[in-house]
Amino acid sequence: MPSGSLEDLPRLNADVPWDKFNPVDYISHNYRSVLAADAEIIAIVRDHFSDHFRRFPGRPVRGIDVGAGANLYPALAMLPWCEEITLLDRSSRNVDYLQGQLDFYDANWDAFWRHLCQNSDYAAYSRDPRERLKQIVRVEEGDLFHLVGQERRWTLGTMFFVAESISSSETEFEQAINCFFHYLEPGAPFAAAFMEESEGYEVGGLSFPACNVRRAQIRHTLRKYATGLRTTSVGELDKVREGYKSMIVACGYRRT
Ligand SMILES: C[S@@+](CC[C@H](N)C(=O)[O-])C[C@H]1O[C@@H](n2cnc3c(N)ncnc32)[C@H](O)[C@@H]1O
Repeated sequence: MPSGSLEDLPRLNADVPWDKFNPVDYISHNYRSVLAADAEIIAIVRDHFSDHFRRFPGRPVRGIDVGAGANLYPALAMLPWCEEITLLDRSSRNVDYLQGQLDFYDANWDAFWRHLCQNSDYAAYSRDPRERLKQIVRVEEGDLFHLVGQERRWTLGTMFFVAESISSSETEFEQAINCFFHYLEPGAPFAAAFMEESEGYEVGGLSFPACNVRRAQIRHTLRKYATGLRTTSVGELDKVREGYKSMIVACGYRRT
């Protein structure tokens, strides 16, 4: 959504008031039900993960969703394959939301799980996803730019609508992608989603910045770190939000 009149917010990541991000409003616009674009993204991501783990079954997998915000479907997409999942976000309100979902996540997420279960590997998953999520997910309040000095690495990763949607700076867009791959072990499968040519967005009456990036630039940046890269444009015809061209979903593997 075009910004401007509501509040004159600064545009670099560290200057944005992330603790005012309203998860209830965000969900009511984006994740109350499964929108057509998310259904497309889910299909691409779940098939990428299931293809990979069918070839390499039985390994212990640690997943991370970077900038998880008020979105549980990346975690649900990783769930069948993982023994632990970290949900990292900088916003205390989003962290509280995620923490509050662990005991018994809200009914809107059931429809997302059902979409995942259109893949037979997810359908065959024998555990209760609610129970499993509660067991293996750890929510962490933190800044994706600041984990770089740590030794921790993950073997499966997602980052949805983060690199381009946390600042208007191209440098920070590139840094966020660099950090995401830094946290992944070589060979780790990943999925990332982007808004193409976003002008920024509004949540709960506040405007948040975005970096206006095109598909070619997203691909160019990802190629530095990824192999087997596939990018797909989704949601062009069925837009529910204003101020962007399409969504791009990217899947591949962390370069070795
Ligand atoms: C547009 S939202 C995307 C949320 C979610 N991943 C989704 O798919 O809808 C951007 C998210 O990035 C988080 N964020 C912003 N800056 C961050 C940072 N430096 N480190 C970690 N998370 C950050 C925000 O709190 C917000 O939850």
